Order: sequence, then C-alpha cells, then structure tokens
Amino acid sequence: MPHPASGLFLYALCGSLRKNSSNHALLEAIGAEAGNGTSVEICTLIGDLPIFDPDREGDATPAAVLEFAEKIRRADGLIISAPEYAHGIPGGLKNALDWLVSRDEIPHKPVMLVHASHRGDHALEALTEVLKTISVTLVDAAFFRINLLGKTPEQRREILADPETRDRMRTHLQAFVTATELRGKLEV
Ligand SMILES: Cc1cc2nc3c(=O)[nH]c(=O)nc-3n(C[C@H](O)[C@H](O)[C@H](O)COP(=O)(O)O)c2cc1C
Repeated sequence: MPHPASGLFLYALCGSLRKNSSNHALLEAIGAEAGNGTSVEICTLIGDLPIFDPDREGDATPAAVLEFAEKIRRADGLIISAPEYAHGIPGGLKNALDWLVSRDEIPHKPVMLVHASHRGDHALEALTEVLKTISVTLVDAAFFRINLLGKTPEQRREILADPETRDRMRTHLQAFVTATELRGKLEV
C-alpha cells in the first residue's frame, strides 16, 4: 500500500495525558505513516485547558483555549484516540471538546476515530455521540482499532511496526485523506 499523497495538516487529539500512553503511541505510529506532505501533529494543549465555563466564552475566552481553537481551525482533519475511563470519555478530552461546542471551528471538520484497545466500547459510543452532536464529519471508513491495552512499550513498538499493521494503518489513513480532500474540493 503506497503512502497517502496529500498536503494536509492533521491534528491529533489524545484522550490520555499519560507519558507512556498507548493511545499516544498509536497516534504517533499513524502519523509516521502519513508521508508525502501530510503532517500529523499531536495536540499538547489538552492538559492546559481550564475547566469549561460558559461565562468564559466570547471576549473572556482563555488564551490556551484560543490557541487550541486556532489549531482546530487550521487543521484539515482531526485524528482522535482515547482510552475508556469508568465507562466514559476521559475528562480532559471531553473538556477540550466542550470548549469547541459554541465555536465555529469544529462543525463539518473531518474526524478519524482510532482506538487502542479491544475494550472501551462505552467510551467509543459516547465519543461518537458527542462528535455527532458537535457536527463533525466522522469518516466511518477510516476507523481503525488495534489492541495495545496492557502491552509494554516494547510490545507496542513490535505490534505497530508489523508490516501488516502498518499496511492497515496506511489503508485507513488513505480513506481519511481521500474523504478530507474530497470535502475540501466540494467546499471550493
Ligand atoms: C481511572 C481509570 C479508569 C479506567 N476505566 C476503564 C474502563 O472503564 N474500561 C476499560 O476498558 N478500561 C478502563 N481503564 C483502563 C484504560 O482504558 C487502559 O489502561 C488504557 O490502555 C489507557 O490508555 P493509555 O495507555 O493511552 O493511557 C481505566 C483506566 C484508568 C486509569
């Protein structure tokens, strides 16, 4: 499978802030498959966003939120990977999405959902519902799932470096890139 060809900027949101996060490892591995001018940047702002407060929207929007929203605005598409916490979406990611609800950066933004566990369907379902509610364009064909739960960093590296896994990641990324490019053309 060739590398997806495009010049897109994809912004990746990781639901885990953990240094050794398997979701972060998955997003990094997908980013490494992008190639050919497509850049994937993993968001580092989620842990710095204040707790969402509708009284701090508009002119009172915190600087960190403005920086985050600007990244979302510039992104041609988003890649999101999150663990399940207590059958739900991790609070930090949900908080980041809450800041976007009343803003104009998120509607119709193409989203590729990926999942680093064989479990966590409650969180996946909840996240899908939230993303639909905030009117993103969820690219179903791009959904990619692989089980990294409970694996050591070394085991993860092996799984993610496997040629068949890399091929699958490229296939799903290509589906996302194609859908994102198509949307860009339709908008012109
Ligand atoms: C507070 C907490 C709650 C969790 N709740 C669930 C859960 O409800 N269902 C599940 O499948 N895993 C649960 N887990 C396990 C995580 O989803 C799992 O360890 C995941 O791989 C963490 O992602 P990360 O490696 O990207 O940090 C929980 C972990 C923590 C720390």
